Amino acid sequence: MRILSGIQPSGKLHIGNYFGMMKPAIELQEQGEAYLFIANYHAMTTVQDAAALREMTTDVALDFLACGIDPEKTAFYRQSDVPEVHELAWMLSVLCPMGLLERCHSYKDKTARGIAASHGLFAYPVLMAADILAVNSNVVPVGRDQKQHVEVTRDLATKFNNAYGEVFTIPEPSIRESVAVVPGVDGQKMSKSYDNTIEIFAQGKPLKKRVMSIKTDSRELEDPKDPESCNVFALYKLLATEAEQTDLAERYRAGGLGYGHAKLELLEKINEHFGPMRERRAGLAADMDYVEDVLRKGAEKARSVARETLDKARAAVGLV
Ligand code: ADP
Ligand code: TRP
Repeated sequence: MRILSGIQPSGKLHIGNYFGMMKPAIELQEQGEAYLFIANYHAMTTVQDAAALREMTTDVALDFLACGIDPEKTAFYRQSDVPEVHELAWMLSVLCPMGLLERCHSYKDKTARGIAASHGLFAYPVLMAADILAVNSNVVPVGRDQKQHVEVTRDLATKFNNAYGEVFTIPEPSIRESVAVVPGVDGQKMSKSYDNTIEIFAQGKPLKKRVMSIKTDSRELEDPKDPESCNVFALYKLLATEAEQTDLAERYRAGGLGYGHAKLELLEKINEHFGPMRERRAGLAADMDYVEDVLRKGAEKARSVARETLDKARAAVGLV
């Protein structure tokens, strides 16, 4: 089974990104032939600053490798190192009804947020379809917001196969429904747009300050507290064992545990979990040749599969 997923490089990663997207993506490498790429062509729809794009692309590569992508198991690459996807995107474009793209929520949402309505932004799902079909992926794990794009991919692959003969595998989306929304320090969904994140590579004083700023209710130290409605506990749950969760929940309910203390316990868990990753990240950042080598090898693998698909597609449409 081939599994492919892409991530847009989009700034500093936070605990919500980690549990909602990175951890599940990393676990995939145990389930089949995994491909994971940094969608830098897609990022160009919103980032039009060369230095920023370059920096964010490198950051994502370091973040994912530090958090556990194993390059022996996952072909990890930059989208722009597999330019074959553009030729494929064109072949899909000519079959893609305008209406199909006009119905896409993501385009409507982004333009409503003020992002310029460019042709690239509009055609975004066609390029995404090309990413998926180029490696003939069977499964595409995505967040709920991307499900519609995988449906567009299925539509386009079916249209192509009907018009020209069987070239593409029809992919299945795999939606991470089970991942709960991770709350931010203010209790809303953790999101870089709300300035309420805890960054996974923050450390020391800034990290402590952030954790201590988590919003709680006004119950006094000696009052019994409700773990289930507490943001500190919600984050603690993500990082602690069942036994540790039960223990802290009991201390909440018994009273005598202050929120300040609970926050320090959370901080300790964050350091325990992400500390080794921070060290690994620093090591990787000091060895960019290694990181480049990983991305180059990943691209070589993806590119050779994409090349094969493209040759078939070129022959099917009459370009050769
Ligand atoms: P942000 O909201 O910070 O801009 P993105 O929209 O770039 O984050 O999300 C990138 C990925 O991280 C998506 O797959 C999304 O589902 C996941 N994600 C982001 N925030 C959370 C959260 N608070 N809880 C769970 N998953 C999240
Ligand atoms: N659009 C995806 C996102 O914003 C990223 C992406 C690009 C992708 N191409 C893909 C995801 C192909 C899965 C498969 O999250």
